[in-house]
Amino acid sequence: MLTKNISEKIREEFPVFKKYVYMNTGWCAPRSTRVLSAINEINEIESREGVGSQKIRKVQDSVRNSLRQKAAKFLGAGEDETAVTQNTSSGINMIVTCFTFKPGDEIIISSEEHPAGIVPWLQLKNLKGINLKVVKTGAPEVFIDNLKKALSKKTKLIMLSHVSCMTGFCLPIKEVCRIAREKEIPVLVDGAQSAGQIKVDVHGLGCDFYAIPGQKWMLGPESTGALYIRKEMLEKIQSINAGYRSIRKFAFEGPSMELFESAKRFEMFDTNAALMNGLDMGISILDETGIDEIEETIKNNARIITDEFSKMSGIKILTPSNYSKKPDSGLLSIIFTEMESADAVNELYEKYGIIARHFRTGNIVRFSLNYFNSENDISKVIEAVSQLSSKA
Ligand SMILES: Cc1ncc(COP(=O)(O)O)c(C=O)c1O
Repeated sequence: MLTKNISEKIREEFPVFKKYVYMNTGWCAPRSTRVLSAINEINEIESREGVGSQKIRKVQDSVRNSLRQKAAKFLGAGEDETAVTQNTSSGINMIVTCFTFKPGDEIIISSEEHPAGIVPWLQLKNLKGINLKVVKTGAPEVFIDNLKKALSKKTKLIMLSHVSCMTGFCLPIKEVCRIAREKEIPVLVDGAQSAGQIKVDVHGLGCDFYAIPGQKWMLGPESTGALYIRKEMLEKIQSINAGYRSIRKFAFEGPSMELFESAKRFEMFDTNAALMNGLDMGISILDETGIDEIEETIKNNARIITDEFSKMSGIKILTPSNYSKKPDSGLLSIIFTEMESADAVNELYEKYGIIARHFRTGNIVRFSLNYFNSENDISKVIEAVSQLSSKA
């Protein structure tokens, strides 16, 4: 738990907590009043001063630059290695466009990827004849073993979630990157469930690409995100996608252009400044507590719930202590053995005021514990799941 004072102060700025126990950051963060104000601040200036005026153009640019800087710092990246994006998917897809694929090229993913990390490769399978190899997750050393067996001369790229959206399992990305670098295979990390809940240091991990959303653990609004591209990679790769924001020089004669050398060339076009300002504020809120304390708090809270869940019959825990003694993250997934996940999530909401999510595939109910969840939230979830699991 965070100290009571910090926890109460943070909770005050999330209106949803007045009514509900919010445990669905893995889908989308609850909206804080400060994030809302940051969004409104830009919307108001734009409507007052003229959204297309020179003055506002400067404001929009400075919002974008500030967000790029803050996101880079948060990920342990250089500013020139960071691009502002719209979500995880746009980052992943941008990297896909940086490579040419031929029939027989192999892409390796894990068995716990989100469709956002599978669909682009399936598309390439259909269009270009690549092969998609799925490596089964397990304890870190088992996973690494499975991965090594899957590697071949045809491996073009490895793409993995840092934290699994299904089980909360934290994949051994650093070790994967070490192995991949020896073989000069690029690693793209899906950071949708990691950035903002565990410490991310892209240089320390040694990955080539890291795509994150703004709307989940980063506490920002939807349609925001960031993408890290390792400096050495920036020099090697070019996307076939580029737009008016990718260039530092342009001439109609020719026509001709010069692209930015930095990751800015992946930003392509204007995006909503109000929303970018919202994510900027989300990062500021996280920085106030600090990611180390956030991660520790989340894992402690997860451990308390996991310990209680493990005493209950009528549920199966999927997360994450399958592989280690302590939870890797705040994503806790369970299966009610005698209940549909959709019904369980509905009842949790209607009867207990708990916001969780379900996955029809696998009949999974997932709770996302965040650092702002209180002791009372945790007790309520334990009580509700205990009642639902013994109802069957
Ligand atoms: C692991 C993972 N990757 C990707 C996504 C898709 O994220 P976005 O909507 O930011 O593209 C999600 C969404 O839940 C996710 O959990």
